[in-house]
Amino acid sequence: MKDLQFNRHRRLRSSAGIRAMVRETVLQKEDLIYPIFIIDGENIKNEISSMPGIYQLSMDNLRAEMDEVVELGIKSVILFGVPFEHDKDEQGSGAFHHNGLVQQATRLVKELYPEMIVIADACLCEYTSHGHCGLVEGDKILNDASLDLLAKTAVSQAEAGADIIAPSNMMDGFVAAIRAGLDEAGFEDIPIMSYAVKYASAFYGPFRDAANGAPQFGDRKTYQMDPANRMEAFREAESDIAEGADFLIVKPALSYMDIIRDVKNTVKLPVVAYNVSGEYSMVKAAAINGWIDEKAIVLEMLTGFKRAGADLIITYFAKEAAAWLRDEKN
Ligand code: PBG
Repeated sequence: MKDLQFNRHRRLRSSAGIRAMVRETVLQKEDLIYPIFIIDGENIKNEISSMPGIYQLSMDNLRAEMDEVVELGIKSVILFGVPFEHDKDEQGSGAFHHNGLVQQATRLVKELYPEMIVIADACLCEYTSHGHCGLVEGDKILNDASLDLLAKTAVSQAEAGADIIAPSNMMDGFVAAIRAGLDEAGFEDIPIMSYAVKYASAFYGPFRDAANGAPQFGDRKTYQMDPANRMEAFREAESDIAEGADFLIVKPALSYMDIIRDVKNTVKLPVVAYNVSGEYSMVKAAAINGWIDEKAIVLEMLTGFKRAGADLIITYFAKEAAAWLRDEKN
């Protein structure tokens, strides 16, 4: 045994104190962005069946939700609208109504909590009758014709007081169009958090229940990315930077940790991981069945996103994670 040569890695793991000293990645509540679904109507708090613990909330229930979010120390929310079916049209005009759901919710949140960073998701799919993220002609999703509508959406959200615009529709040129629209309307200081690297993923399934935004025909593969591709992520990230993005989102997160790292190593902008609905549902289902230790798994997963290079994480676990982080400090 005497001549064995090896390193003693366990020295730096020998106590909780030493482990804390050499810990490389620290998850903080400030890293978390909480998604909220605002549904039209009154007195609604619908739990989404595939996302236990996540609700469609009507505007009158938003205050209580925000009180909780603020109490937990979460600094930012991202808002999605869930309109009535009869308000949907070909253009998704509900996305850019002055009194649209995201616009109204933004005004309310900023009135209640001016310090809260409100991110407005800018997409058409929740508001179009066909459920696609852009204008449709026959079975084609039109690119350039959709850009104006997105720019209008972004401007109306900025007018309502949104701090950040997050376009998620994956039309080419959407960042350029939104930047130009915001600038023209005098919102040159409003940043764009672009869903730059967004894959055509089955992990969005539960979100489409939550937002009633499933495409009525076809799929999103002509605008969202092929999960098999990596170089395409660099191309998308480069374009969005050139067009003026201020943050880049990689989405989904759990099966795309390599892409988060690639993007982080390549760009100088803040990188955001979107821990999407299907990832939430998987963990929740296993937790509810008692198959996994939810708290440990969620904190490990979120820490993993940060270690992979995410500066911020959009996650349906934000409230629970913030509470667990708070409890650990005490
Ligand atoms: C809208 C949008 C989607 C998600 C965020 N914005 C759905 C989609 O693109 O199909 C998915 C979020 C999630 O699954 O949590 N375009």
